[in-house]
Amino acid sequence: MRALVSPSILSADFNNLGTDIEMINKSVADYIHFDVMDGVFVPNISFGIPVIKHVKKIAQKPLDVHLMIVEPDKFIEPFVEAGASIITVHYEVCRHLHRTIQLIKSFGAKASVCLNPHTPVAVLEDIIGDLDMVLLMSVNPGFGGQQFIENTYKKVAQLRAMIDKTNADCIIEVDGGVNYETGKKLLDVGANVLVAGSFVFSADNPSEIISGLKSL
Ligand code: DX5
Ligand code: ZN
Repeated sequence: MRALVSPSILSADFNNLGTDIEMINKSVADYIHFDVMDGVFVPNISFGIPVIKHVKKIAQKPLDVHLMIVEPDKFIEPFVEAGASIITVHYEVCRHLHRTIQLIKSFGAKASVCLNPHTPVAVLEDIIGDLDMVLLMSVNPGFGGQQFIENTYKKVAQLRAMIDKTNADCIIEVDGGVNYETGKKLLDVGANVLVAGSFVFSADNPSEIISGLKSL
């Protein structure tokens, strides 16, 4: 098993969210991925702290919270209080990224930075040693079900080289358009965590897809 899997509940059935969380609990998934959108950083609005707080009551996997919001510093404490184990902020919105990372860690959560498809991996050179995870977007953030951007493989390989060279204790997560084909190639170039939304939840047997991703 070389992959960690983080199903994205953006594609879950919100009328039966509890059922989908139970499915994830019973599956071999490693985390539960939450896409928080503010309608400012991304052209969509999803859900926020109250939903995460309620899911936390029944979730048996760590909550992997992807903040697609401007000014994330304002909300880190409430998201950790709501139950987030990993907090990801976007590089593109953080004026003082080092400060934001230390803030996340000060509340006891794992700290992660996300790069949009156009943001080069090299911008992380001076912060990589402080990060628990880097999230590479393989689609433009804002929506599930988009087509995978092929340039991501190159970015994963570059990031893997940076992490290995610096001996950083940091894992690589990839988000957007992940399926068996893209997932396998991502693992081959050095990714550790696969986020998958529509591929998992549009399947007849989502739990089987999670197992399939885990054993690529
Ligand atoms: C996109 C989100 C993703 C999304 C992935 O803005 O960050 O986590 O849920 O969805 P799929 O797997 O359908 O591309
Ligand atoms: Zn995400």
